[in-house]
Amino acid sequence: MSRIYLDNAATSWPKPETVYTAMDVFARECGAASGRGAYSSAIESAKVVAAARTGVARMIGVSDPNRIVFTANGTAALNLAIHGLLRPGDHVVTTVCEHNSVLRPLHAAVQRLGCVVDFAPCDAQGHVTTADILALVTPTTRLVVMTHASNVTGAILPIAEVAAALRSSPTLLLVDAAQTVGRLPLDAESHGLDLIAAPGHKGLLGPTGTGFLYIEPGLEAELTPIWQGGVGSASDDPEMPATMPERYEAGSLAVTPIAGLADGIAYIEHEGRKVLCEHVCTVTAQLAAGLTGLPKVKLLGPPPHALRAGVVSFTLEGYDAHDVAVALDASFGIEVRSGLHCAARIHAALGAPEGSVRMSPGCFTTEAEIEATIAAVASL
Ligand SMILES: Cc1ncc(COP(=O)(O)O)c(C=O)c1O
Repeated sequence: MSRIYLDNAATSWPKPETVYTAMDVFARECGAASGRGAYSSAIESAKVVAAARTGVARMIGVSDPNRIVFTANGTAALNLAIHGLLRPGDHVVTTVCEHNSVLRPLHAAVQRLGCVVDFAPCDAQGHVTTADILALVTPTTRLVVMTHASNVTGAILPIAEVAAALRSSPTLLLVDAAQTVGRLPLDAESHGLDLIAAPGHKGLLGPTGTGFLYIEPGLEAELTPIWQGGVGSASDDPEMPATMPERYEAGSLAVTPIAGLADGIAYIEHEGRKVLCEHVCTVTAQLAAGLTGLPKVKLLGPPPHALRAGVVSFTLEGYDAHDVAVALDASFGIEVRSGLHCAARIHAALGAPEGSVRMSPGCFTTEAEIEATIAAVASL
């Protein structure tokens, strides 16, 4: 039984062949820490990191790669932004579509700092309007945190519109681009996004162990480093340096995965982000349309052919989501997610508090695999 992997919203698989090769070559032939030595392999290692940083900056429309801070994953980037920015009593606006990597740091800020968090609602298709977000923003709101696309419904949220509305206010905007980076257009500078957090291991096609936070120029004074430690320079200063990106990159970087990330981005640029995105949109729409036609299947989120991130979640009346996922794997080799997908609020908002089955195609998913998946669900 061949394997049909439909969990690209968790992490993309397979990676382009060049990603595996880049990591293997780096680990075997260089392997040195980056930013830590003057010998040639340490310099080579620093070059690998610089290439990845430049690649990430290009992908999100940022002119200075040093504004990109590498983290272990998207969650670490969101924690750095949220815990680094929030002060006691701050007011935050977010949405019901968020993942626990936003919800839990915000909950911790409520518990520890007495912060106040308001949630913008979504409609029956999982969309959130700019007006609903702005209605909650006051002149003293510190931060708006919103996902670019829900990891449950795939619904795309209006980040550019919200950014434009907040541009002349002191409120900062943090975008969680976990489900869109490397796929949908994301332009930090022209859209005026203050912070973008994302993994490197989903749409950017890098390995797990990679993520980043983009920090707009001038924010270093407001964003406290939440990790302290060595950065390979200014070692006699007890404070973290003021320079970017070192200010937020304490400790040795994960250079082997970062080497893979650089080649994931190179692959996207070679094939064309738009071409890959169109492919994912096509197979996602095929999947959504096919599932919609099946009895007892209820899709969460936008209609089948609407623009969405590459995610389709559904419930199968009378069946537990977990049982469906187990049956798909055991009988058909189809790998999907079941449960709340770290996003309980959106499930509750859409009337599926018990959870759903989530299928997320990637840029290597074929139309034949989607047909086989629809047939498998039909047979269940
Ligand atoms: C919307 C969203 N935000 C954040 C994350 C967290 O990313 P990571 O798994 O890299 O920590 C995920 C992961 O699935 C996600 O879907």
